[in-house]
Amino acid sequence: MQLEQVRLRLASFGQSHLLTFYDCLTAREQECLLAQCAALPLEMIAREVASWSHVKSATGDANAKIEPAHVVAARTVDAAKYCAIGEQIIRAGRVACFTVAGGQGTRLGWNAPKGTFAATPITRKSLFEVFAECIRAARIRWECAIPWYVMTSPQNHEATRTFFQEHGWFNLGEGTVRLFEQGTLPSLSTDGKILLSACDAIALNPDGHGGAVRALSTSGALAEMQRENIDTISYFQIDNPLAKAIDPLFLGLHAAHPESSNEVSSKVVAKRDANEKVGVFCRRADRSLVMEYSDLPANLAQAVGPDGSLVHFAGSIAIHAFSRPFLERLASAGHELPLHRASKKVPCVNLATGALTEPTTANAIKLESFIFDAVPLAARSLILETAREEEFAPIKNADGEDSPATCVRAQSNRAARWLEQCGVTIERSAHDAGYDATIELSPLTALDAEQLAKCQRLPKCVAAGETLAL
Ligand code: UD1
Repeated sequence: MQLEQVRLRLASFGQSHLLTFYDCLTAREQECLLAQCAALPLEMIAREVASWSHVKSATGDANAKIEPAHVVAARTVDAAKYCAIGEQIIRAGRVACFTVAGGQGTRLGWNAPKGTFAATPITRKSLFEVFAECIRAARIRWECAIPWYVMTSPQNHEATRTFFQEHGWFNLGEGTVRLFEQGTLPSLSTDGKILLSACDAIALNPDGHGGAVRALSTSGALAEMQRENIDTISYFQIDNPLAKAIDPLFLGLHAAHPESSNEVSSKVVAKRDANEKVGVFCRRADRSLVMEYSDLPANLAQAVGPDGSLVHFAGSIAIHAFSRPFLERLASAGHELPLHRASKKVPCVNLATGALTEPTTANAIKLESFIFDAVPLAARSLILETAREEEFAPIKNADGEDSPATCVRAQSNRAARWLEQCGVTIERSAHDAGYDATIELSPLTALDAEQLAKCQRLPKCVAAGETLAL
C-alpha cells in the first residue's frame, strides 16, 4: 500500500496519529511503518471499540441465563471400552499433540519461555522436556508417530527454538516438533487509539491462545495434519506438568461418547474453592461455554447447592481434544473468536514529544481471544471431570498457590500413589500421615500406574524423607 492509501485508511478509522513521526523517519523506517499500518485489522478494532460502551448490559443479560455445565465423571464411564477406542486412534497415527506456549510467564517472574522453567522435583527437567518425554513414551508404547505442534509468540519464538536446538529436540527428531508463531494485535489506549512503541513501530501484543485457530491454519499446520491423516488434536498448556499429553480414555470418549459431537471435548476438575482462578464450564442457551474467572460474577462463583457444594464447580484445566475438521471450519469460516480486554501497562510513545513513556499504572487495553470460546461453536461438547491430583498442578505464581513448590509436591505425591498401587510401601509422615518422600517419575518409565507395575526397578519400600528418581 502506498503512503496516500494508508493515510486515507487510517484517517477513516480515526488512527491518523500513527503517522505523526513519518516525515522524520529514514526511508527504511517509513517502509516498515507503512507495512505495519497496512496490516492492521482496522475494521475489527473499530467494531471492538464501538462495543465497549455496551459490554455492561450484554454481560448482565447473559448471566441471567447461565446454568451449570453437564459434566461426565471419568469414574462413571466404561473405561476399558473407551480406552480401547482411544488406543486404536493413537496407534493409527491419527493424533497430534498441540501445546500453547506463547505466554510470557509474568506472574512467575521467569524471564524466558515458560517451557524452559525447571519443573520436576529432583532432576529439574524443564516443562518442555517433561512433555517431550511424555510424547516419546507414547510413541514407544503405541508404536506410532505423534508430531508435536508448539505455538510460540513473537516475544519468545527464537528463545524457544534455541532451547529445543540446544537440547537436541529432546530426542524427538527435529522434523517432528513443529514450532510456529501466533499472531499479534495492536495495544490500544483506553479510548481506542492504537499505541506506538517507537516512532516507527506499532505497539503489538500476542493475540491470545485463541489466535491458535488462525495460526494453525496460516502456518500450514492444519494442512500438514490433513496430509498425514491426523484428525485429532490433543491440546494442553505448557504450565501443567501433570497434563497427560496423550490420554487414550479422553481421546476415546471424544471420538465415541454420546455427549461428544467429536468437535471439541474438555477436561475439568472440581474447583478448590469459589475463588480459584480457573475458567468455569457452564451452559447458556443449550450450549456449553467457559466463563473466565475474571468474567464470572461473584454471585455465580459463590453459589452453592443444598449440600453446600459449588453450583459452578467445573473448573477448566485447559486440556481439550479438538477434531481437525472443526478447527478447519472455524479458520476457514473466518470465525473471529470474541475479543477479551485486559488493562495493562504498555510503554508507548508520547505523541507530543516522540519520547517513550514507561507508565506506572495501567494505561492500555490489550485484546486477546481465548481458545475455549470455540466450545460453544460446537454442536455438542463432552466435558469430562477428572481427578485434580492426577492431572492438574499448574505453575502460575512464584510462590503460594499454583507455584513451583506446590507443583513439585503434586508430582511427587502422584508418583507415590502410583507406586503404592504397584504394591510399594511408602512411609508416611508422622505428623500428618502425608507422603514425606520426594519422588520423581519419568514419563519414559511409566505413563500411568498400570505401566509402572511392569517396571523392573521398583523398590520394595520408600522411607520417609527419601529421594527417589525413577
Ligand atoms: C488459563 C485459562 C483458565 C484455566 C487455567 C488453567 C486463559 C485466559 N485462562 O488461565 O481458564 O482455568 O489456565 O490452568 O487462558 N498463551 C499463549 N499465547 C497467549 C497467551 C497465553 O500461548 O497469547 C498460553 C500460555 O503460554 C499458557 C496458556 O496459554 O500455556 C495459559 O495462559 P495464561 O495467561 O497463563 O492463563 P491463566 O490465567 O493461567
